[in-house]
Amino acid sequence: MHLAWANDKFVSGVEMSNALDISRVAVWKHIKTLVNEGYDIESSPRGYGLATCRDLVRFSLERTTENILFSPSIDSTMDEARRLAREGVPHFTVVIAEQQTKGRGRLNRAWSSQKGGLWFTIILRPDLPPQLSFKVNFAASLCLAKTLNQLFNINAKVKWPNDILINNQKLVGLLSEMETRGDMISFVNVGIGINVNNQPEKEQPNAVSISTLLGQKVSRTKILAAFLDRFQRTLDNILERNIIELWKEQTATIGRQVRIETFKDHFQGLALDVDDTGALILMDEDHTTRRVIYGDCFY
Ligand code: BTN
Repeated sequence: MHLAWANDKFVSGVEMSNALDISRVAVWKHIKTLVNEGYDIESSPRGYGLATCRDLVRFSLERTTENILFSPSIDSTMDEARRLAREGVPHFTVVIAEQQTKGRGRLNRAWSSQKGGLWFTIILRPDLPPQLSFKVNFAASLCLAKTLNQLFNINAKVKWPNDILINNQKLVGLLSEMETRGDMISFVNVGIGINVNNQPEKEQPNAVSISTLLGQKVSRTKILAAFLDRFQRTLDNILERNIIELWKEQTATIGRQVRIETFKDHFQGLALDVDDTGALILMDEDHTTRRVIYGDCFY
């Protein structure tokens, strides 16, 4: 039934009750459950149809290279991914939501996640010691910037630690959470929020969506498929790759005056470099340098 919907169809109650061998009342009860789960279901004389998220439903049903789990509405894909990772789901399980009610950003900030954006978390179980997990995060932002540049011929740049900007406006935010077991990573969850066909500009003046930038709606599943393929390939031999050097080729952070915010502090200076552990090297006014290992960075 989902697949019929994914194919842009209205499906009548009779068709559903015949296909599923259940009564019309039972069909109606299932439809009500789906509506309560957050699906936008339209009823018309032709039957029931999916009003939004048809593209993501179809993607989650058809894509076979990863385990894809789709929800129309969820608290946060980070929270769901953590629950699932603790239950033992396999490497490269992707949790996608059309809408998040408690989307989270770095430093515990709220992340607005309206319909039309692309909000997902990838559960990864890389064969890496925890101190090398930074490679996974930098690889994710690098792969995504390259994917967006290739698909849309834009000039997206990565910003330390993991944002993607276009003309200094935020297109993508990335958040990662890790749990370890002994001296190995149990899971690292990489959460990605891409402003695609939503309008973040109303709520976050310094953010922009791809559709605003290009003046037209774009395909979310095209972005997702191209990114997941590229990221999979990169992860396959992540130990051998010098991710930081490659990331530096795509960044506009180095050489800029920046302001850094952490949970308790903020400071500013000249971004001199990103070292081979992913830390930002900052020089302040009196020429003292410091290594910044986490925080949010503003130009
Ligand atoms: C940031 O720039 O502060 C990071 C934003 C990360 C947002 C994504 S959207 C998908 C995933 N689920 C969340 O609650 N957050 C991340």
